[in-house]
Amino acid sequence: MKRVLVVYYSQSGDVRNALEALTAPLRAPGVEICWRQVDSVPRYSFPWRAVEFFDCMPEAVTGRPPEPAPMGLDPRERFDLVILGWQVWFLSPSLPMQAFFTAPQAEVLRGTRVISVICCRQMWQRAYGGMRRLVARAGGVLTDNVVLTHQGGSSAGYLTAPWLMITGRREKLAFLPAAGVSSGELQGLERFGQRLRETADLWAEPRPAPLLADLAPAKVPTASLLPETAIAPLMVALARIARLCGGPGSVLRKPVALLFVLTLVVTLPVLLVTSAVLTPVLGRVFAGRLTRYLRGTQALDPQDGCR
Ligand SMILES: Cc1cc2nc3c(=O)[nH]c(=O)nc-3n(C[C@H](O)[C@H](O)[C@H](O)COP(=O)(O)O)c2cc1C
Repeated sequence: MKRVLVVYYSQSGDVRNALEALTAPLRAPGVEICWRQVDSVPRYSFPWRAVEFFDCMPEAVTGRPPEPAPMGLDPRERFDLVILGWQVWFLSPSLPMQAFFTAPQAEVLRGTRVISVICCRQMWQRAYGGMRRLVARAGGVLTDNVVLTHQGGSSAGYLTAPWLMITGRREKLAFLPAAGVSSGELQGLERFGQRLRETADLWAEPRPAPLLADLAPAKVPTASLLPETAIAPLMVALARIARLCGGPGSVLRKPVALLFVLTLVVTLPVLLVTSAVLTPVLGRVFAGRLTRYLRGTQALDPQDGCR
């Protein structure tokens, strides 16, 4: 009997639906799947109020999650495979997922192969770096990363994602695509579950190699690399200033939140246009470096999850 633990957090259902689709082929005799949804105290409400949405940026970016909620899992339990379903919040792993790593239950990852499944609008590079560090610190062995991005181009997501966050609705609006991950992408996840099922004997091998790498598990939208690289340091600076002004809900840090919103409103359109023009040029000039970088986002860091 192989034991699989699915640890996840999901608000709109994107992550939950992705995990359901991916694990469908694993629902077979000889495999036991345990599902555990993580949460935090206090909880983050969905749909969001705009104030609360922006107020959680400083903690997400600086890695200061709230308390983890009890999750009914014995930290001493052992699994053959852990599938971690999570989402990006402000270029960082979401706060409830960060909270999980402060709980004693994160100990279940020690010495176990971990498959990461991300849902996000489009920018996941910085967040994945953060997740690699969290899993490595917990002693897990992160070997694969499956990424699902929202439907529509990068510009559409800037309108559809906030609409989904604030209204909880994902249906198609005027000229825009529906919000969130498309059903077509969800259907395509079966191939990963199939592969995991076929390779069950390799899950616990002493020197685990990636299992899904040849199945194109993660698209890196090159058009979003430039905006992400430019916005990340700005976000970190504003997050640190906000933290100096007070904790979550503090009135003193409201002006910083407003500055952050204004920064996004002004810089994002500029960055999108600049990136649309420059990405093809930079892509050619730095073709070799870009390919190495993109490969690196999938590779197993030698320091990750030493057994
Ligand atoms: C507070 C917050 C911040 C977000 N920040 C990002 C981001 O920086 N980059 C990104 O690509 N998506 C971002 N998103 C979008 C989510 O990652 C995306 O909607 C994901 O599909 C949510 O999955 P879920 O509804 O199952 O929780 C953010 C969403 C929220 C709620």
